[in-house]
Amino acid sequence: NVGNSTNILWHDCPIQKRERQQLLQQKGCVIWLTGLSGSGKSTLACALSRSLHARGKLTYVLDGDNVRHGLNCDLSFRAEDRSENIRRIGEVAKLFADAGLICITSLISPYQKDRDACRALLPKGDFIEVFIDVPLHVCEARDPKGLYKLARAGKIKDFTGIDDPYEPPSSCEIVLQQQQGNGFKSPCDMAEIVISYLEEKGYLRA
Ligand code: PPS
Repeated sequence: NVGNSTNILWHDCPIQKRERQQLLQQKGCVIWLTGLSGSGKSTLACALSRSLHARGKLTYVLDGDNVRHGLNCDLSFRAEDRSENIRRIGEVAKLFADAGLICITSLISPYQKDRDACRALLPKGDFIEVFIDVPLHVCEARDPKGLYKLARAGKIKDFTGIDDPYEPPSSCEIVLQQQQGNGFKSPCDMAEIVISYLEEKGYLRA
């Protein structure tokens, strides 16, 4: 039995992941961006995909806001719905990685257990968790969509960081801060840090 279904058997496809990766000259993986609303996840996802695309690498961005317009339009921001949002995106990301793509997800994904469950879906090493470590007061000062203001006024309930928790990763592959080492990091600088990691781990060749 699989989930709630019975009499379901796995059907193998004749083309293997290895062959798709050979064609694309890259290794499929998931770059899982996590951080508060307004931390810059979507901006980094765009910078990363643009930069990788320019190097001839096939990427696809799964952005929380966008996926909530379609596949996940039935989900709210209650804890159990956030978990389901993340579970579904984790499963889709797993398929993209299996297709050989570098899949970049951009979700708050506030709970550690949900991120861990997505990690467990992928072969070891292929889930690359990237924490955009921007403090709440900075995100709130930016407030690009005016949502923090609404949340503070009680007009949005269960807003991450205000009346719903954000659990920072206890251990993850990459932590990005705007103020790191000897200066300010732009989205392009951050994208380069992630790309160096991919290069070092062999994801940018077959
Ligand atoms: S989650 O927690 O991973 O399921 O959230 P996600 O799918 O990434 O969606 C986050 C975007 O939804 C908007 N929004 C909210 N965020 C947090 N809490 C509440 N209650 C909420 N309501 C709406 C917000 O624009 C988030 O976008 P980003 O890009 O993160 O700012």
